[in-house]
Parts: sequence; C-alpha cells; structure tokens
Amino acid sequence: MLLQINTPIPKDIPLELPLPEWLLVTLLVVSFLLHIIFINLMLGGSIITLWAQIKGLKNKEYDIFAHEISKTITVNKSMAVVLGVAPLLSINTLYTIYFYSANALTGFAWIMIIPLVTIAFLLTYLHKYTWEKLEQSKKVHIAIMGLAVVIFLFIPLIFLTNVNLMMFPEKWGTIKGFMSALVLPNVFPRYFEFLGACLAVTGIFIVWYNNRKNYPFEETYKTFTRYDVKKIGYSIAIIGLGLQILFGIIVLFTLPAKGIGYDVIAVMTAAGSLLVIVLWWAYKAITNEQQHIDQHFKKIVFTMLAFMVLYGGSRQMYRHNALHKHQDLVAANTAEFQRLSKEARENPVEVKEELELDASLGELATGGAIFKQKCGACHKKDEKLVGPPMLEMVSIYKGKVDDLKNWIKAPGKKRPDFPQMPGFKDQLSDEELSELTKYILSIK
Ligand code: HEC
Repeated sequence: MLLQINTPIPKDIPLELPLPEWLLVTLLVVSFLLHIIFINLMLGGSIITLWAQIKGLKNKEYDIFAHEISKTITVNKSMAVVLGVAPLLSINTLYTIYFYSANALTGFAWIMIIPLVTIAFLLTYLHKYTWEKLEQSKKVHIAIMGLAVVIFLFIPLIFLTNVNLMMFPEKWGTIKGFMSALVLPNVFPRYFEFLGACLAVTGIFIVWYNNRKNYPFEETYKTFTRYDVKKIGYSIAIIGLGLQILFGIIVLFTLPAKGIGYDVIAVMTAAGSLLVIVLWWAYKAITNEQQHIDQHFKKIVFTMLAFMVLYGGSRQMYRHNALHKHQDLVAANTAEFQRLSKEARENPVEVKEELELDASLGELATGGAIFKQKCGACHKKDEKLVGPPMLEMVSIYKGKVDDLKNWIKAPGKKRPDFPQMPGFKDQLSDEELSELTKYILSIK
C-alpha cells in the first residue's frame, strides 16, 4: 500500500478540463521546455557574468566577456517570464488540487517568489545600466550581480520544492512550511542537476553567440580570439554537463519508489546517454585543432534539445505514475459525494431536533428545553444579549399569557436600539407555546 493511512483524499472540483488532457500535457511539457531554456540562460548567464567579472579584475578581457554576457541576461529573463505563463497555467489546470495544496503548504516561501523575482530583476537592470558609471568601483558593481545571483539561485529551489511536494499527498499532513518540504527526497539532487543544465545550456549559448557572423567580435575584444571565447563556452558546458550527468544519476537513484516504472527508468537513461554523447562532442571541440572547433556544434544543439524533451517527458511520466492512484481515489471520492448529494436532494428529510430536557425543572422541563433551543441564542435570564433579558419579559407579561404568545408568534418592533426579533408562528405548536410561556413566566 503506497498511500499511507493519513493521506488526505480531497474531493475534486467536478469541472471539465478546458482542453483534452493529452493536449494540456503536451502543452505543459513543451511550454515548460521553452521556459526552462531561457531560465537556464538567465541563471547561467548571471553566474558566468559574476565569475568572469571577478576574473576580469585581473584580466581585462574577462571583464569585456562579462559585459557581453551580462547584456543577454535581461533579454533572456523577459523571455523566461513570458514563456513561464503557459506551463504555470497548464499545471494549475491539470493538477489543480495538487499544485494548490503544495503552494498553500509552503505559502510564505511561495508568495516570496514575487518580491524576490522583482528585486533580482531590478538588480540585473541596475547592473546592466551602471557598467560605465561604476567602472571605478568594480567591487560594488560585482556585489550587485552577486546579490542577484544569490536570489536567482534561491528561487528555483522554491519552485522545485513545490512541484516535488505536489507529488506526495501522503506527506501533506506532516509538512510544516517550506523548510520541511525542502528536505523531502529528491529536491536537492534535482536542484544541482538543474544548475548543471544552466551552465551547460549557457555554455553552448556562448559558443553560438560568439560564432555569429554579424557579431562585431574583433571590435569588442583586444586579445581574445573567437576561438578563445568559444573554448570558454565549451569548457563551461563541459562542467555543466558533468554536473548534470552526475546529479542525474543521483536523481535516478533517489527517486521515491512510488512513481518509478520501467518507462521512467528507460526514458531517463536514454536522456542521460544523450548527455554523455554531448559531453564527448564538447570535449572533442576543445581538444581538436582550432579550425575544427565548430565541427559538432549543430549536433550538440539538437542532441541537447532531444535530451530536454526526453527528460521533461520522463518527469511527466513520473508525475503521472506517482499521482494516478491518488487521482483515482479522489475521483471515486468525488463520484460518491456527487451520488450522495444527488440522493439527498431528491429525498429531503425533515430533521426534528431532540429537546434537551432538564429534569430539575420538573413540569417546566419541556418549556425550558424549547426556550434553550429556540430563544436561548438571543435571550438570557438577567442580561441583555441580542434581545432584552427574560426578567424584563416577565415584568411586561406577568398575567398576560396570551399577549406573550402573540408577541412570540408575531413580534412587533418596540425598542429603537434593538434589531427586529424573528417570529415563531409556524415553528411552535399551540401546546409547545403553552409550555414555553409557562416556563418564561415562572422565571424569578
Ligand atoms: C434572533 C434573536 C432572537 C430570538 C431567537 C428570539 N428573540 Fe425575543 N427578542 C429579540 C429582540 C431583538 C427583541 C427586542 C425587539 C424590540 O424590542 O423591538 C426581543 C424581544 C422579546 C420579548 C419582549 C417583547 C416586548 O413586548 O418587549 C420577548 C417576550 C421575547 N423576545 C421572547 C422571545 C421568545 C420566547 C423567543 C423564543 C421562542 C425569542 N424571543 C427568540 C431577539 C430574539
């Protein structure tokens, strides 16, 4: 039994999906892929800019390199944000209760994404537009990017924690905020795998960027050649690919068993093998003679893309495996609820509440119980509640039972500072009314 006893099984909102499920899943995987490429470039670009700018304190060429990369960050950031809308909407629609629950459980961290993203974006613009101004205070300028990188490094951790948490409904009962969700299995290996991907994708991007015919490379750099910079790009990619492969293996071995199937293992392994091939080509590129550095470039790009499709697909398969049992239970729960509520609507039953008789009241017990049930919410013996105290009623109606009964059946509007009392014309039988008034008028 994979689902523990304390698994909360909510009822679903019985609404049709706006698109066929397969289309939404495809949209989710494809749009997420596009989104994550630009996230990789944004984060990878920030890390590499920071690194190169620090290195640039000693070697001016690296400072130029950092400046060139930094110009791409804000553009890639905008692309990432725009392309992030579709996957966010698709996952919300496909996995409404799962995604919502995960986000609600880590509510504070989740909502912090907004201010954090805002601050980090503003920092990258600040960094971009103060390149000349802070030329004399390089350390301050580097610190700005450093802060942006720290924030950028933290945000994906929140996202990863939540998409991970949503797959474990059986853990929801024990999760106390972001930190306890963070330590669920598999979050950190996936995080480092993701960081590797950022470096790998940005490394390849750097190769492409510096290979463009219309890029005024020679006017930009003084001593670096295109080969030098492309080699930096490939070297970064190799480090990233290495991280990806290493942590990819750890991911595979630490995947919680509930979503594992041969399908997931097969696709993940196939994806991983593609990375090894890319790594080999990238290694060839920097060790071959200079004129052959571009030899494998196109193959590398296509293979990386194929890797991403496979890996993204395998994540979706895992999610499906991990959740379908719970989804079936929720569906059954929802169907049962709908059946019961339909039945209840078709056979309405009148519920007559039992009176709580207080034996110490003797023959006044029935009246006392009716009072407690119908009047007690608004009237007390000697205190004003919603209506006046009972002692006041007694002073008005002593010896005038019929007037009292008439008031109860159809109360007037008397006291200007009190609300209107509801009438009890159809709710009390004559007999009950007699018991009730007998009790009220006995109060001393
Ligand atoms: C939702 C609150 C509410 C409930 C329930 C309620 N009353 Fe009242 N009752 C009032 C309010 C308010 C007044 C004062 C109305 C006014 O003076 O206009 C009032 C006034 C009265 C008075 C004084 C009438 C007068 O002539 O001054 C009596 C007697 C009385 N309620 C009896 C009852 C009895 C008996 C019940 C239960 C069957 C009952 N009430 C239930 C709110 C309530």
